[in-house]
Amino acid sequence: MILTGRARLAGLMGWPVSHSRSPRLHGYWLDRHHIDGVYVPLPVAPGRIETALRALPVLGFRGCNLTVPHKESALAVCDELDPLARRIGAVNTIVVGEDGRLIGSNTDTYGITESLRRNSPWRSGHQPVVVLGAGGAARAASFALLDAGAASIRIANRTRLRAEILSEELGAAAEAVDWDRRHEALDDASLLINATSLGMAGQPPLEIDLSALPVSAVVCDAVYVPLETPLLAGARARGNPVVDGLGMLLYQAQPGFEAWFGIRPQVDDDLRRFILADLKG
Ligand code: ATR
Repeated sequence: MILTGRARLAGLMGWPVSHSRSPRLHGYWLDRHHIDGVYVPLPVAPGRIETALRALPVLGFRGCNLTVPHKESALAVCDELDPLARRIGAVNTIVVGEDGRLIGSNTDTYGITESLRRNSPWRSGHQPVVVLGAGGAARAASFALLDAGAASIRIANRTRLRAEILSEELGAAAEAVDWDRRHEALDDASLLINATSLGMAGQPPLEIDLSALPVSAVVCDAVYVPLETPLLAGARARGNPVVDGLGMLLYQAQPGFEAWFGIRPQVDDDLRRFILADLKG
């Protein structure tokens, strides 16, 4: 790849960032559209996020994505926030405005909504949805489901207080459930989403008894390494429709790419294969 002096610049700030697939993902789209641009990993230590973000306009960057541990701290640095980022309390995409202002948004919710809409039969109805977890991923998932019209949301988290705080913010549709009662909470549900880190390579497995879950319920995992988690394998075996975590990663990247590089990129099977080859490799 040969960049000119007019190359459009974007990147990902995180600590660490070396594991991230986002440079590969954006690099694929840049290549496909022959765009004079680059998306670089930017390792930014905790505590340095404000300095790093303020440098974006100085360096001519169009914007960046944010990952752990910066999604919450970036919120206070942005000059403008979209209402969704403010509600969720986290920013994952920043666009540098004409005047150098930092405009923050959260596209994780879009990633979840699009992935569910395109890869599953789930549509909002009267049945409850169950979210496991109360961290950043669970917050994005819960607000996405609320905005998609979920009638009620049961949130089960190991630390009950975090589930209570989240359900309070979500309003009357949500209720906190004891982690030990996550199995019973599946009764009558139309959707189960794992938004904990359990089941991820190197983490403990997610232990959950699916017997109370209707076989029509969609089972979704935010974890994408491995792609087929034991949760998804177990759900598939009993006949539930399943949605893996890769779609969420791919769709959340679309709005940022469009804002920085000027083209709405496609999520398709070629892209999935390209990212999957790397996950397996
Ligand atoms: P992220 O922003 O990726 O969601 P996070 O904020 O660290 O990351 O959240 C991780 C989630 O996984 C939390 O819901 C966490 O539960 P706690 O709030 O109790 O920490 C959950 N989690 C992590 N390890 C867990 C474990 N061993 N058992 C149950 N839940 C676990």
